[in-house]
Amino acid sequence: MILLPTSPDANHLISANGAPSGPRLRILCLFGTRPETIKFAPVIHALEKAGHESVNVTSAQHRDLLYPLVKLFNLRLDHDLGVMKPGQSLNHVLSRVVEALDPLLVSLAPDAILVQGDTTTALAGALAGWNRRIPVGHIEAGLRSGDAHSPYPEEMNRRVISQMATWHFAATERNRRTLLDEGVSAAAVHVTGNPVIDALHWTLKNLEPSPEAGKLLGELAGERFILLTTHRRESFGQVMRSNLEVLRDFIHAHRNVSLVFPVHPNPEVKAVATSVFQNSPRVRLIDPLPYQDFLHLASRAHLLVSDSGGVQEEAPSLRRPLIVLRENTERPEAVDCGAARLIGNDPEALRASLENAWLSDSWHQQLSTLSNPYGDGRSAERIASILAVPLAV
Ligand code: UD1
Ligand code: UDP
Repeated sequence: MILLPTSPDANHLISANGAPSGPRLRILCLFGTRPETIKFAPVIHALEKAGHESVNVTSAQHRDLLYPLVKLFNLRLDHDLGVMKPGQSLNHVLSRVVEALDPLLVSLAPDAILVQGDTTTALAGALAGWNRRIPVGHIEAGLRSGDAHSPYPEEMNRRVISQMATWHFAATERNRRTLLDEGVSAAAVHVTGNPVIDALHWTLKNLEPSPEAGKLLGELAGERFILLTTHRRESFGQVMRSNLEVLRDFIHAHRNVSLVFPVHPNPEVKAVATSVFQNSPRVRLIDPLPYQDFLHLASRAHLLVSDSGGVQEEAPSLRRPLIVLRENTERPEAVDCGAARLIGNDPEALRASLENAWLSDSWHQQLSTLSNPYGDGRSAERIASILAVPLAV
């Protein structure tokens, strides 16, 4: 039996009565994009609170979307791999992260590397760890859409990461079952919830919205508004354009409704957004919102429309109805609990769903007592305590 993890310089944590309570681990936390930073922040704080050494590494796959979050969540960045370049390819990100991370894995010799979700950064981190025989912990494990091509490339990334992970931190029981059905050992799967809910609770409790968000809400006073986000690669081209055209026509056809669209900095998204919405009254194309502002606006929107993964997880806590702009979802819990409706890549279904949510408030009323299937706000502390337990492999 091999006990993992142990590093050459691992100390032991001392419990309140002075007895050793487990190894003090050096854990490399790798994150690169907006959602990874939001979801990693509570985990990094929980690891430090539990007495572990968290080495915080960003690939900087995102730059504009990432650094404000590092500041917001008061994260220390120990290493920045500086990967982002405009219009980067998936292979650029993958190869650059593996190449830049490898010497750090050698010099730091972490006991474990943690990755989150399904981004190219997460795939690169898991692969680099696997090649160096460093155990990998996967946060948000077990999500599957069932279609290898959608979301692209995330569905394949998460399937491949599952092959390499030592710890699988599943958000829900359904995610756990998926992993077991794929042959992952039950001892390696832990249902912890998703730390995005920890981040959401912390932010709503501790942070005030910015004056700019207050001003925007003031300007919208008296109007219902729809909050839109869209950025998925598999929707680029006609799918995204058709969805935006339906939203534009809906806003034109209804008085007293506005659209607020924080536009993702991906040039593909910006181009279609400015082309479809030029000269559209009551449509506000704005920069991506700081996290606390996004939550503030989202909890006051009449309707959320999004293809985002994180927004599907947050909507049940915000208790706002969400129309999901996707062909399928790896987060069916949001649909099952009533918070989300999946419209597929079908402009007519989007049109019908918008009209339906506009004409009746019954969907809103159903959400007033909802509890969130993705977590209770204590996922990060569970992850930190599971990592402290020596693993028999
Ligand atoms: C990535 C993730 C996706 C996640 C999304 C979150 C992959 C394969 N995709 O997609 O799973 O949902 O992040 O937003 O990892 N850009 C900037 N500034 C930024 C960020 C992006 O200018 O701060 C622009 C750049 O031109 C960049 C492009 O957006 O080339 C695309 O960024 P990239 O990280 O490659 O993919 P996303 O579409 O953001
Ligand atoms: N978000 C934000 N500002 C915005 C739009 C979204 O802070 O203007 C947050 C949102 O609350 C969620 C996360 O970004 O937590 C989702 O990120 P994104 O949609 O980029 O990625 P995905 O979740 O689809 O991978």
